[in-house]
Amino acid sequence: MRTVLVTGGAGFIGSCFVRKLAGSGLYRIINLDLLTYAGNLDNLKSVEKHPNYHFVKGDIGDRLLLDRLFAEYEIDSVVNFAAESHVDRSIEDPASFIRTNVMGTQALLDTAIKNWKLCTDKSSRAYRPGVKFLQVSTDEVYGALGPTGLFTEESPPAPNSPYSASKAAADLLARAYAHTYGIPLNITRCSNNYGPYQFPEKLIPLMINNSLHNTPLPVYGDGLQIRDWLHVEDHCNAIAEVLERGRVGEIYNIGGNCERANLDIVKTILRILDKPESLISHVKDRPGHDRRYAIDNTKITTELEWRPAYTFDAGLRDTVEWYLDNTAWLERITSGEYMDYYGKTYG
Ligand code: NAD
Ligand code: TYD
Repeated sequence: MRTVLVTGGAGFIGSCFVRKLAGSGLYRIINLDLLTYAGNLDNLKSVEKHPNYHFVKGDIGDRLLLDRLFAEYEIDSVVNFAAESHVDRSIEDPASFIRTNVMGTQALLDTAIKNWKLCTDKSSRAYRPGVKFLQVSTDEVYGALGPTGLFTEESPPAPNSPYSASKAAADLLARAYAHTYGIPLNITRCSNNYGPYQFPEKLIPLMINNSLHNTPLPVYGDGLQIRDWLHVEDHCNAIAEVLERGRVGEIYNIGGNCERANLDIVKTILRILDKPESLISHVKDRPGHDRRYAIDNTKITTELEWRPAYTFDAGLRDTVEWYLDNTAWLERITSGEYMDYYGKTYG
């Protein structure tokens, strides 16, 4: 049985991945998560008693803790989801993004190399068979597109926000560690995710939450910015494929060929919930707002035969239903810190 260290496994995407691995019965899972405002053990209720699942509260930047975990559990793979993940927060406070996304990733890479290398000689490139470090990244590292074109794995990094710059820095560090020290590595770069358990600071759950409370839906600028959307379960299936079968050293873009303008999404949510469009409120644009993201997913679909299972229409409808069925989950996390953040961001 392979032992996977999943970091950030109490967040939106990480918890989906943990639930998926636990369901397969093929892995021992160590979930290391600091439980920041975005981490929530409620997301993992269905697996908390699973015999092969272990939760550890801690920071990916804590090298002593990492050493202890690698010594205690024979870790074969690291899947690094842990991150500060929200662009608007990165504009307010970039420092925590550098700490976790860059320095935290570096601590994980150093620890993995120390524990997986077969000898201490710096020039040796021999690693324990079967080990792999998978860095979960984002299409935002490529910057913004104009009205046409797609990001390929060869597109140069050109990040525009402190968030995407910190993710790009981590990717470059991981790439350099693979080149210099030979650590077996993959990087995945996915488009915008949606689905159950997403923290309501991100577009889709925020708009669902506000619609449910009949409060204004804050659309930045003209709302014609475009994102490429993928259901979180499709993202996690893709990561599992890359972990198992991805060619060592490769980057894989992950996307669903599903470009939508923000305003269209907001109007669709209102339609599903039978709420009036008068709830839409155009607010000041996000500083440095990227206009369009779109992914060329040819590499992962041809090499690993991965395909998204959800259509956006069905996935969005299921997601809205999930939030309607889980108002208690939503209410628990939209008190306290969330209201402070909301007040500061939207006035
Ligand atoms: P999230 O904010 O929901 O979850 C992040 C998790 O990391 C939380 O559980 C948090 O407690 C934990 N964490 C934060 N700092 C930590 C630290 N120092 N040590 C340990 N744990 C820490 O984020 P998400 O949306 O689930 O994103 C997960 C990963 O996927 C991120 O790396 C993000 O960049 C990437 N990604 C996200 C999207 C998206 O649309 N959400 C798209 C592509 C890639
Ligand atoms: P977000 O979910 O924050 O993801 P990202 O910025 O990483 O793509 O935002 C998605 C899009 O929705 C982005 O163009 C910004 C826009 N947006 C709004 O218009 N209003 C909002 O309140 C939020 C949170 C986002």
